[in-house]
Amino acid sequence: TGAPDLLVVGSGFFGLTIAERCATELGLTVQVIDRRPHIGGNAYSEADPETGIEVHRYGAHLFHTSNRRVWEYVNRFTDFTPYQHRVYTTFRGEVFPMPINLGTINQFQRAAYSPDEARAWVTEQAAQITHAPTNLEEKAISLIGRPLYEAFIQGYTAKQWQTDPRELGADIISRLPVRYTYDNRYFSDTYEGLPVDGYTAWIERMADHPNITVTLDTDFFDETQPFNKLACVGTTPVVYTGPVDRYFDGVHGDLSWRTLDFETEVLPTGDFQGTPVMNYADTDVTHTRVHEFRHFHPERDHPADQTVIMREFSRAAEADDEPYYPVNTPQDRERLLAYRELAKGETDVLFGGRLGTYQYLDMHMAIGSALSMFDNLIAPHFTDGVPLT
Ligand code: FAD
Ligand code: NA
Repeated sequence: TGAPDLLVVGSGFFGLTIAERCATELGLTVQVIDRRPHIGGNAYSEADPETGIEVHRYGAHLFHTSNRRVWEYVNRFTDFTPYQHRVYTTFRGEVFPMPINLGTINQFQRAAYSPDEARAWVTEQAAQITHAPTNLEEKAISLIGRPLYEAFIQGYTAKQWQTDPRELGADIISRLPVRYTYDNRYFSDTYEGLPVDGYTAWIERMADHPNITVTLDTDFFDETQPFNKLACVGTTPVVYTGPVDRYFDGVHGDLSWRTLDFETEVLPTGDFQGTPVMNYADTDVTHTRVHEFRHFHPERDHPADQTVIMREFSRAAEADDEPYYPVNTPQDRERLLAYRELAKGETDVLFGGRLGTYQYLDMHMAIGSALSMFDNLIAPHFTDGVPLT
């Protein structure tokens, strides 16, 4: 056996894109480890045992991109359905289309505004904040006015952050898009769809190469396990996609994250909510949204009298929670800069992915950034001996 040419820590989209390119393009042997019992990172999905319905274990994952290279790359491993994402929100016992659009405004106002009339109404409401906004609430009102803010932003944001929006920074939002058409398609990217055979089949095909070995239940920081940090760094080149602060033992302090709790339930009905994702804007409902997975794949055969729903709750992550969204406070940004300096000095170790760079990355961004790292750093290292830093 012997040492692999490259060790990849983390089997999410970033790590697997690196592994696949190195094996296919350079003929390298690649060892991938993951501390979880499954491949695929947060994009992992599996069939619910009772109903067979595909459940995204770490929250609904919708694939979309305008990057042609990424689209062509991912199509080597899976076909995509023509799924287009749309979201609705429940507020005070009424359902509205999201993101805020002409349909939302007209339903909210019991009106038949034209695009210009709706724009004039929003502008008039937004003009009520005349000073520079000092918190998220004022910023939101300056963008869309108080009525739409109170209905669609206030409660949802308070639940997402477990904080009154008046205590959140104005810089958390830079824009709140309002569409003055009836278009309620969630994404505006050129390419969108869901993997025909599910995420896990796609991910497994990326790892399906004779030069790639994936070992699960293996933590890079557990020195009793193979391919740990102490044993490998300095002897084997490493691409590390775990949390950057954890790599350096938190010497500059912990980076803060929000996490999500998910409550999955099988219900005895063929259709619970008639749509894949329903947001809940009221604060007396404690979850932020409900996913109903059968609606992501209307082309599949599903049970006529059973459905799987997943309620999502948002909160600050503690030490043992899964890190999902960077909080990105000024202190986090300062710490991140210090970790980046340490990462630069770590020879033969590259940091990538959402945890390794402390950035929210959509799947297409994680894949695109792995393709760039392969082109710019990894291929030059293995073909021309350029140092890996
Ligand atoms: P991850 O998928 O997180 O993979 C990192 C892997 O590293 C994990 O498997 C982890 O177990 C492993 N690891 C960490 N530490 C260690 C260690 N010490 N030893 C061994 N292994 C370790 N993107 C979209 O495009 N559309 C969406 O709709 C979408 N929805 C999302 C919803 C949620 C709730 C979240 C959190 C993300 C969503 N994303 C979505 C983003 C998508 O999940 C990421 O783009 C993708 O996960 C990034 O891949 P990654 O490889 O960087 O990280
Ligand atoms: Na480095």
